[in-house]
Amino acid sequence: MVVSPKIAPSMLSSDFANLAAEANRMIDLGANWLHMDIMDGYTLTALPLDSFLLPSYRHFVPNLTIGAPVIESLRKHTNAYLDCHLMVTNPMDYVEHMAKAGASGFTFHVEVAKENWQQLVEKIKSAGMRPAVALKPGTPVELVYPLVEGTTPVEMVLVMTVEPGFGGQKFMPNMMGKVRALRHKYPTLDIQVDGGLGPSTIDTAAAAGANCIVAGSSVFGAPKPGDVISLLRTSVEKAQPTT
Ligand code: DX5
Ligand code: ZN
Repeated sequence: MVVSPKIAPSMLSSDFANLAAEANRMIDLGANWLHMDIMDGYTLTALPLDSFLLPSYRHFVPNLTIGAPVIESLRKHTNAYLDCHLMVTNPMDYVEHMAKAGASGFTFHVEVAKENWQQLVEKIKSAGMRPAVALKPGTPVELVYPLVEGTTPVEMVLVMTVEPGFGGQKFMPNMMGKVRALRHKYPTLDIQVDGGLGPSTIDTAAAAGANCIVAGSSVFGAPKPGDVISLLRTSVEKAQPTT
């Protein structure tokens, strides 16, 4: 196999009041990673005063979920890989907190790291986490090429297949062009898809070349979440070139 499947249930769809039990249940059912959606970064760094008039500068997504304290609590109950997806306006401010809390992977958005991405990736790596970059549906894929080819490269690209902010949205098949372009250019790169993945959409994503699969509502909403996890894995395996 060229790239291995990594199935990551999105804990956003879990019962947050029972997070540790939910996390361990997913790992016992065969999940490789736990996807943690950290949302809404009220920026800690000073921005020009007038930029605060624009809501998009203050908040990356219109939802508020969890932060480093929750990662830290969860870390005490599991050794699993915590795949942290930061939908925040200033990811640089969160690197240290997330590393201390026990995050394994740190995925930031390219839309908010245009100038300082190299410094950010180095900071994530030296803090002991695996750096990755995400892009929103409206963002052209070419923007992440320099990050994959940088001197300190990102180790995964997350292609959003819904607008970031909420679980349970509809998969956007027109994002598959980005996945195909990335897979064509980088045969061994970890490519993650996030949003609307489940039994009815996985084959499209796997055929395009995605190997890291985030799935929230389709896993947690299923009568047998373990069956969905296995189905997602099998689909990625089947789509792999046999050489
Ligand atoms: C959306 C999040 C996703 C979300 C996926 O902003 O990044 O991880 O939880 O949920 P589903 O699989 O339900 O679309
Ligand atoms: Zn996510």
